[in-house]
This record gives sequence, C-alpha cells and structure tokens, in this order.
Amino acid sequence: ELPSAVTIWEVGPRDGLQNESEVVPPAVKLDFLTRLAEAGLTVVETTSFVHPKWVPQLADAAEVIDGLTPREGVRYPVLVPNERGLDRAIESGVRDVAIFAAATESFTRKNLNRSLDEQFGMFDPVVSRATAEGMDVRGYVSMVFGDPWEGAVPIEQVVSVGKRLLGMGCSQLSLGDTIGSATPGHVEAVIGAFVAEGVGVDRLAVHFHDTYGQALANTYAALRLGVSTVDSSAGGLGGCPYAKSATGNLATEDLVWMLDGLGIEHGVDLAALVDTSVWMAGQLGRPSPSAVVKALAG
Ligand code: HMG
Ligand code: MG
Repeated sequence: ELPSAVTIWEVGPRDGLQNESEVVPPAVKLDFLTRLAEAGLTVVETTSFVHPKWVPQLADAAEVIDGLTPREGVRYPVLVPNERGLDRAIESGVRDVAIFAAATESFTRKNLNRSLDEQFGMFDPVVSRATAEGMDVRGYVSMVFGDPWEGAVPIEQVVSVGKRLLGMGCSQLSLGDTIGSATPGHVEAVIGAFVAEGVGVDRLAVHFHDTYGQALANTYAALRLGVSTVDSSAGGLGGCPYAKSATGNLATEDLVWMLDGLGIEHGVDLAALVDTSVWMAGQLGRPSPSAVVKALAG
C-alpha cells in the first residue's frame, strides 16, 4: 500500500555537488541551501566532513555549516566517515549525521580505504559516540543493487551490512543504488529481504541514481511496499566521485511530480524548486538533466 505522505531527503548540496570538479563557492552553496529549505524541503543533507583531499568540493564543510541560517523545522544532516569527521561535525554544532557503508569489498576499498569488514570498526565508535550524545545517525549502504567492479551483489550480503548498521544504533538505512542499475523487481526483492529479516519498512529509505532511467520506477516499487523516505537531489545533480559509472540522483522535481499525481503529501513547492534548480544550473554552467525541470522551466 502506498504511504499517504513521503519525507523527501534532499541530497543535492552533498551528493549533487560532491561530484562537481569546479569548486562551487560557499556563498552559492549557502544560497542553494536556503532556497531548498524555502521551497519546503524539511531534510537537506548539507555537506560531508570527509577528508578534504578525497572530496575537495566539500572541503569548506565547516564554513558552510557556520554560515547557515537554519530554518525552523528543517534538518541539515551531514556525512561523517570516521571519528575525525564526527569531531569536526560536533565542533561545528551539527546534531544530525550519516555514516556511509558499502555492501561490496571493492567499493569500501575505493571509497573508504577500508575492507568490507574494516568499515564497521571505523563506524562503530562514530555511531556509539553520536548516539550517546543524543544525535541522530543515518546509515547509508552503497552498491546495494550492483557494483561496477563486482557486478551482481548478493542480497544476503546487503542485508547483513544493513543489519550491522542498525545494530550499531543507526535510526534509518538508506539503500543506495550508487550506479543506477536497479530495476523494480530487484528493489522489491531487496526490501522484501530486509522485511523478512525483521527490519520494518519504516526504518528504510531508498536512494536511487538515474543512470539507466529507472529511478522513478524503482521509487514507485519501494513506495508500494510502504517505504516513506525517499532521497533525491534538486535538478538531478549528482554522482559519486569514487564510482565512475554513477551519474545524477533521482531529481527531486521528478519525484515531486510523481507524488503529486499519486496524491502523496510531501510539502514541497514545485515551482520554487524548479526555479532553484534552473538557478543552480546557471551557476554550474549546464542544464539540469531533470525531465520535469525541462518541462516546467521558463
Ligand atoms: P584514510 O586516508 O584511510 O584516512 O581515509 P586515515 O584514517 O588513514 O587518516 C589519514 C589522515 O587523514 C589523518 O591525518 C587523519 O586525521 C585525516 P594525519 O594524522 O595523517 O595528519 N583524516 C581526516 N581529516 C579530515 N576529515 C576527516 C578525516 N579522516 C581522516 N573526516 C577516509 C579514510 C574515510 C577519511 C577517506 O576515505 C574519505 O574521506 N572518504 C570519503 C569518500 C566520500 O566522501 N565519498 C562520497 C560519499 S559516499 C556516496 O556518495 C554514496 C551515497 O550517496 C549513497 C549511494 O549513492 O550509494 C552516500
Ligand atoms: Mg548517492
């Protein structure tokens, strides 16, 4: 059954921008964050406290958090890979963080410089310290539906990684189709496997990239199973610098258009969001890939 309301977890400022090779000035990022919150998004993933050499685009994380004027009722989570990242986030006054694990050996090595097993040793103290301080910790799992180096990813391996993150104290799992290769039947199988292992759909979020044009279909499959948190990025910005085949995320505008058609509440002002994405496309010097932005813009 479809949920009556969906929380859109906007990842444009983080997942969207992290892949841009030209550094976007902090002032532009701050305008982007403000505009997204004003458009009605209630969760806006803001930046990452990762190693600045790994993601130079987000090296200004502290400056961005510092310059942010939070809007009432809006959450501004950030990514932290390790205790150093958590320290930096806490110093900036952040209360809402996400760790990012992967379901494959190849990607934990490329993205985290750790083996599949070693990643848990890195995350465990982050989650325990953060939760002890009353912070919220989301757990991402990447390469859930396929891996560019390994191909198919066994569903048991995905569920095992996800359950370990929940066991550490993550409040929610975001299932990441990093390379956008998933199709709806596969989405049903993965969510079904979590449910069969006792993980409720209320603890699952979906994170689709639109590389193969399947992101909306995949989202619909997840909604039908009762998932009610969906990650997307304004204008379809995005990718992952450590997975060559990853392109933009599901565009928030495309998601909003579908949710409107289904009568599912989301709280976003579509016109304001399209304006924001058109403005951001101007800043980046190339048009938004979102079909809905193209259809509705000017
Ligand atoms: P490492 O080189 O193994 O780090 O990188 P280390 O622990 O060996 O430390 C080496 C040095 O880095 C030390 O400094 C640390 O202090 C410093 P030294 O003592 O030598 O002077 N350091 C840091 N400095 C600042 N901030 C930090 C930090 N950590 C260590 N946080 C590390 C390991 C995890 C740090 C690195 O691999 C990294 O930063 N990776 C991030 C990669 C990334 O951001 N990828 C994109 C996000 S994931 C994604 O996009 C997928 C997602 O969207 C879902 C999906 O689509 O599937 C979430
Ligand atoms: Mg992503």
